[in-house]
Amino acid sequence: MKKFCVIGNPIDHSLSPKLHNFWFKKNKINATYEKKLLKDEEIPELVDSLRKTEINGVNVTVPFKNSIIPFLDDLSPEAKKTYSVNTLLKEGDKIIGHNTDIAGFELAIRYINYDVKRKKAFIIGAGGVSPSIIFALKNMGCEDISLTNRNLEKAEKIKETFKDITIEKWGNIPEFDIVINATSVGLKNENLNLDFNKTGNNKFFYDVIYNPNETNFLKSAKQRQNKIENGKMMFLYQAHQSFALWNKVLPKIDKETIEILK
Ligand code: ATR
Repeated sequence: MKKFCVIGNPIDHSLSPKLHNFWFKKNKINATYEKKLLKDEEIPELVDSLRKTEINGVNVTVPFKNSIIPFLDDLSPEAKKTYSVNTLLKEGDKIIGHNTDIAGFELAIRYINYDVKRKKAFIIGAGGVSPSIIFALKNMGCEDISLTNRNLEKAEKIKETFKDITIEKWGNIPEFDIVINATSVGLKNENLNLDFNKTGNNKFFYDVIYNPNETNFLKSAKQRQNKIENGKMMFLYQAHQSFALWNKVLPKIDKETIEILK
């Protein structure tokens, strides 16, 4: 039986096991997927078990998306550019880090037919997932991207990779068509201390968070007559891409699949 897992800290909230185990069953693949709470010092051992094929594939989440990189043999071009890895697999005798968050975000935006070309995008947060969102927006033809973060230095660091983005001081809200919450604020129903009351309506508010279903960021945007979307489809599509890399099978994304994430 093949073995897969997602590593993170915390990891309790992860819906990846539920989704992958559902797809294994549907596709009659003899495999299991579990979540593993890992400490920093346990990372080398985890990579080693992949090397020995004791494990067949790994998803990586907060806070290891960057810190796992030195233990890998090579990166996909997307993982290299974003310095962010969420999927590991053994190719030949090498452990390769992939980034399927990029495709996850891109497919989620395409799924709802939102065209980012000639649109102004504003990203809140400079954590693990932000470079992937910037990469995906650029892929889709968005040329006007601003980024803010409470800790400005982290935003400046991302600008070293994506030189044409604009950095906004925390509290400054630039003109935008789409704003994306890429922080962890909202997971526990907290509020971002940013004021969107003057940004008008008919904008698009996107939250990477999907649990809770509607963060306060999305709730209040909806009250002000804006379009909203949570990160559920992004989560689904990144998992879909990881599954395809490991199993060379693209499972179905249908109503039943979306339903199990509720
Ligand atoms: P990491 O920072 O380890 O990459 P992450 O979950 O990927 O972890 O990112 C957390 C993001 O949420 C960061 O952008 C963080 O901002 P800081 O870099 O300033 O810490 C942001 N964040 C977390 N709590 C926040 C808060 N109370 N207000 C604003 N931003 C917050």
